[in-house]
Amino acid sequence: MWRSTLIVAVRWAIWDQLCMLVLRSTKDLRESMNQGRGMCVLVPTMGALHQGHLSLIRQAVEIAKPQNGRVVVSIFVNPIQFDCKGDLEAYPRTEADDLKACENEGVDFVFIPDESDMYAADRSVIVAESILSSGLCGSARPGHFDGVCTVVLKLLLITGCHVVIFGEKDFQQLAIIRRMVRDLNVPVDVVSQPTLRESDGLAMSSRNASLTAEQRADAPRLFRALSDASCLLDPTAILDYVVKQIEASDLARIDYVELVDAETLQPASSLEQATILALAVFYGEVRLIDHVRLPAL
Ligand code: PAJ
Repeated sequence: MWRSTLIVAVRWAIWDQLCMLVLRSTKDLRESMNQGRGMCVLVPTMGALHQGHLSLIRQAVEIAKPQNGRVVVSIFVNPIQFDCKGDLEAYPRTEADDLKACENEGVDFVFIPDESDMYAADRSVIVAESILSSGLCGSARPGHFDGVCTVVLKLLLITGCHVVIFGEKDFQQLAIIRRMVRDLNVPVDVVSQPTLRESDGLAMSSRNASLTAEQRADAPRLFRALSDASCLLDPTAILDYVVKQIEASDLARIDYVELVDAETLQPASSLEQATILALAVFYGEVRLIDHVRLPAL
């Protein structure tokens, strides 16, 4: 009797280790999380996974597995963070490939909720951050970070995760999430991962797949301009240089180029404190962002 119980328990443990569950409702996810053991690490994404996302997932696995914990990846193209309907509709969706990639990395749960499950038709509560989101992508995309904060807080509450991982590529998003977690006492550790780049320097992004071959060949100028400008010693010279390098392209259209304080994200007029040189540039309808961090002089 005890032998067959042991065999069942061992089989269950092996199955549990090998098997990835895809959950499509908040109810199913909650139930699975409640049954679980140990700590939980969440990687929130909008799918169309690339190596940048996978570096976050690998870190999640590294954190969770030694503690017999679980890794949850969420895939949800969050409609309320898109300020433009065309951008939402054009957002790449590659679910079958995403699921294979998650399985290969040893993810335990993939959460792919429906919009109607995440948002009641008469929803009336949002999470809004009011200082760090006032500039950069916040002013270029009104309401964007309210949408991000709202969905991230919901994902943290639904999963009950202990650790959540974000990429430094979206440095303003990361700063705002850290602020939300601090100001609302959310019981989660926020961990960050550096930006992964293609061999020509272009920051990996789900949006890169929507560039034409010509636009893709031109796009490395963004990181080149940021990197070259970071050797200059004056804020105006830095901004002028980046603008000039991007305006030299017929394909690129500047949304913003800004130098901000690395802590407050407010415009910086000196290099005496650490700063971030950031840009958003359109190639056709595709909007790319990138930044470099400049240490204090
Ligand atoms: P998404 O753009 O899919 O990005 C998911 C996570 O991957 C973010 O934390 C982002 O910073 C990180 N990431 C993207 N490109 C990266 C790269 N090249 N190197 C390292 N990390 C990278 O960001 C979002 O989704 C959404 O706003 C989300 C947080 C999921 C809320 O909807």
